[in-house]
Amino acid sequence: MDQTTIKEMVAASAVDKLVRSGMKLGLGTGSTAIPAVRRVGALLASGELCDILAVPTSFQTTIECEKLGIPIFSLNSREIDGSLDLTIDGADEVDPDNRCIKGGGGALLLEKIIAYASAQYAIVVDESKIVKNLGLKFPVPVEVIPEARIPVTLALEKLGAEVKLREAVRKAGPVITDHGNFILDILFGTAPDPSALEAEINRIPGVVENGFFTGPAGRVLRPAIFIGHGNGNVERRD
Ligand code: 5RP
Repeated sequence: MDQTTIKEMVAASAVDKLVRSGMKLGLGTGSTAIPAVRRVGALLASGELCDILAVPTSFQTTIECEKLGIPIFSLNSREIDGSLDLTIDGADEVDPDNRCIKGGGGALLLEKIIAYASAQYAIVVDESKIVKNLGLKFPVPVEVIPEARIPVTLALEKLGAEVKLREAVRKAGPVITDHGNFILDILFGTAPDPSALEAEINRIPGVVENGFFTGPAGRVLRPAIFIGHGNGNVERRD
């Protein structure tokens, strides 16, 4: 099974198992989350689902919902009132404790806000995303306000990270996020402590958010992970 088919399979499986009519639904970003958006669109079009109120995590997802006719709102809309029943999103890496790195598509800020506003949170990935330790292979994105680029870089280097400003493709200069910020991609030489680092990185002035998703203190926001395997199986890890 090729990777695109695995992504479609795992996305459809999560939607079919979790999404119900009438839900306030967060919709993720990336090449595994978008097939989930398309599955929701198809089920709405066929009448198998109705009354979905969707909150997209990025411009990419907003545009996809617009194309599919999925009704979209913001977390601030009266209909949503700051909380969601369920969010389905992708991830770049997932560790054995269901902690993730997200933000490969640069949408980590709204993705995290929406995750925290969700009663139920599910991540859809193909098996290549499963790792023992986060942050050694796939860089952790750190969204920073442009003016803080160098001071934040120095502070991240002090934490032992190798730091690279994310460059845009088909646009000169850096990536500008959906919220007008830069992204610093950071990698570690030795396995970092993701839970401690998530909090520590966010304490640096100028950092808007980082791509470690380890769950807020005092409340376990560990997602249900749906893992698509090349043999056609979908494994669920809670
Ligand atoms: C975007 C994300 C994506 O969910 C993550 O990068 C995974 O993307 P893909 O499914 O395309 O590998 O966090 O900011």
